[in-house]
Amino acid sequence: MTTPQSRFKRVLVTGGAGFIGSFLTERLLASGCEVVILDNLSTGTRERVPAGAQLIVGDTRDEAACEKAIRGCDAVTHLAAAVSVRASIEQFHADAECNIMGTLSVLRSAKRAKVKKIAYASSMAVYADRDRPEPIPETWPTRPDSPYGTSKLAGELYTLLVGRDAGIPAVALRYFNTYGPRQSFTPYVGVVTIFINKLLKKETPVIFGDGLQCRDFVYVGDIARATQLALESDAAGEVFNVGTGRSTTVNEVAEQLILRMAPGIQAAHGPAQPGELRNSIADITKARRVLGYEPSRPKPDFDDVIKFWSAGK
Ligand SMILES: NC(=O)c1ccc[n+]([C@@H]2O[C@H](COP(=O)([O-])OP(=O)(O)OC[C@H]3O[C@@H](n4cnc5c(N)ncnc54)[C@H](O)[C@@H]3O)[C@@H](O)[C@H]2O)c1
Repeated sequence: MTTPQSRFKRVLVTGGAGFIGSFLTERLLASGCEVVILDNLSTGTRERVPAGAQLIVGDTRDEAACEKAIRGCDAVTHLAAAVSVRASIEQFHADAECNIMGTLSVLRSAKRAKVKKIAYASSMAVYADRDRPEPIPETWPTRPDSPYGTSKLAGELYTLLVGRDAGIPAVALRYFNTYGPRQSFTPYVGVVTIFINKLLKKETPVIFGDGLQCRDFVYVGDIARATQLALESDAAGEVFNVGTGRSTTVNEVAEQLILRMAPGIQAAHGPAQPGELRNSIADITKARRVLGYEPSRPKPDFDDVIKFWSAGK
């Protein structure tokens, strides 16, 4: 798919040395704009920074770092965040410091720099988990079950408010379960990445709970594309789900990976984890209609992720 020419000259990508940010940076560079990355390398790495992007190592909570990074930028995509539901339960203060205070600091700099657009990376974790429809439309109530969902929602609300008051069109994208190569490997994030790494070590993957929890697994390239479409669009004050609209259980993910990597192994089951959503499928009608978004991988396909980790990256 060819990338149309960007209307921006220089875009700040916070968290651009991370999983999704590195794919987004590639797309932005391909659309002809310069990209500056602000990243504290807490989970991101220099190796992930695409050639042609400028990396500023710094923290979003540091005003001077934000001011330096945003100089000359006419748009901002804000992805830098602490990304773990489980870690946020243990350390809700640290999660909020990073995700709320970091966002406020980026927004303050974006306002001063008078950028022309802000796109904020939000999460499916903002939705209330009880009695909800599947798929979930953007109009569904937000009442997060975790500190992470709460901090992502606060960031989303602040982004839309500050954008409105400063006259800067701002949008928030609620990403669903993102998979793909280069995901930051931590014990907490990304069931696909965690299972693949277990299987490569000939260990048994552990499914939390009965494994019947449903997720909308969306390819990282599609997340990057939706974010770029939203950035380039005229949308303002809007939130968009980004997923595929398709449901896959965690058991099905384990079965698919085991079949490919270690046929015959049985996944183990551990206790269900607090704060984790039961089912989470995106209604992507709005992103389709307003942004022209269509997932390139409507069904989960983990081949390139297996290849990436098998190559010892
Ligand atoms: N991966 C998913 O499934 C998923 C789902 C929903 C939403 N999101 C959101 O997408 C965004 C990107 O997530 P990801 O999966 O690429 O995670 P990631 O951990 O790979 O990327 C986050 C990046 O931000 C950087 N960072 C963290 N805190 C920072 C700070 N205070 N200052 C500067 N840099 C900082 C990290 O070093 C890393 O490079 C996050 O905002 C996350 O909440 C991700």
